[in-house]
Amino acid sequence: MASSCVDSGHSLVGESPQICQIRRHIDRLSRSRSPVLLLGESGTGKEVVARAIHEGANIGSFIPIDCGSLVAPLMESELFGHAKGAFTGAAETKRGLIELADGGTAFFDEIGDLPLEVQVKLLRLLQEREFRPVGSLTTRKVEIRVIAATHRDLAREVEHKSFRQDLFYRLNVVSVRLPALRERIEDIPLLIDCFLKRLGARHKLTNECLETLVSYPWPGNVRELQNCIERMVAMNSGPLLQTADLPSALQTHLEARRSGVRSVAAVVNGTAPPRLASPQSGIIPLTEMEKHAIRNALEYTKGDRAMAALLLGIGRTTLYRKLKEYGLAV
Ligand SMILES: Nc1ncnc2c1ncn2[C@@H]1O[C@H](COP(=O)(O)OP(=O)(O)O)[C@@H](O)[C@H]1O
Ligand SMILES: [Mg+2]
Repeated sequence: MASSCVDSGHSLVGESPQICQIRRHIDRLSRSRSPVLLLGESGTGKEVVARAIHEGANIGSFIPIDCGSLVAPLMESELFGHAKGAFTGAAETKRGLIELADGGTAFFDEIGDLPLEVQVKLLRLLQEREFRPVGSLTTRKVEIRVIAATHRDLAREVEHKSFRQDLFYRLNVVSVRLPALRERIEDIPLLIDCFLKRLGARHKLTNECLETLVSYPWPGNVRELQNCIERMVAMNSGPLLQTADLPSALQTHLEARRSGVRSVAAVVNGTAPPRLASPQSGIIPLTEMEKHAIRNALEYTKGDRAMAALLLGIGRTTLYRKLKEYGLAV
């Protein structure tokens, strides 16, 4: 039920072991107030998870703070507010984002982009639960849950002194890593269904189209997949989405797969055929090629035979027969 996509909102779609585990984390973290650090590549769902933790707790507002887009000179006043006359242009007292989040959750997105001088203020906020607006003489108390996210390797940033170690430790009390989409390809068909439903689209995909989407390495993760589906639906009145409807990055991937050139997935998974030194040395029995392809597909899908058959472009029964024939069945 948690993977349902009836709502258009923030529910986490997926049935892979990694996503099921993350759902359990969300449940547990909703009941605590300690800081959480969400790690993972861009587009893996860090904000979806942050919102889910907040919604589970069901108190106060969720205030997203995009650390990457805050402009340096105004950053402090955006976050902590300012007193009247604190600087030229500060005609009125202004409340900052932190105060808006009082009683709820402040979500620091791309926390690695926060400059060192603001990091120290955030640490104080986490430790003392208080802050001082720019130009104000007095401090204010707040009760906020801090959830931070980054696609960066913060431990490395600490080593390079671009991120404060004390703040890193304070934030890293609980960290959750969101897996890249290519590490949980079994969720791809579910996500596609969900996005089609959310768009109110009745489109279906051809097998080859689905196979291309499942084997593509998705550097932009779920966000890229979502954009891809939206684009395909917008450009095609349906009812069938075919490989010709795929956007250019996917077309390139499809061509690479078709022509046997090393596609990114093939390089990652070693499914590309061996390079030929001479015509003779290049003659490989087809059965060997087939065994190799089947083994790699099963490794890539972590043993999911239905998905492996889809990627190999053969029916499930054919795959079962070949597994038996080659003695690959376990
Ligand atoms: N597991 C998921 N289920 C459903 N939608 C998801 C999932 N993960 C990401 N998304 C969608 O993908 C997009 C990017 O997610 P987001 O949380 O902003 O990623 P990140 O913060 O890691 O960059 C959003 O539109 C979000 O709704
Ligand atoms: Mg994000």
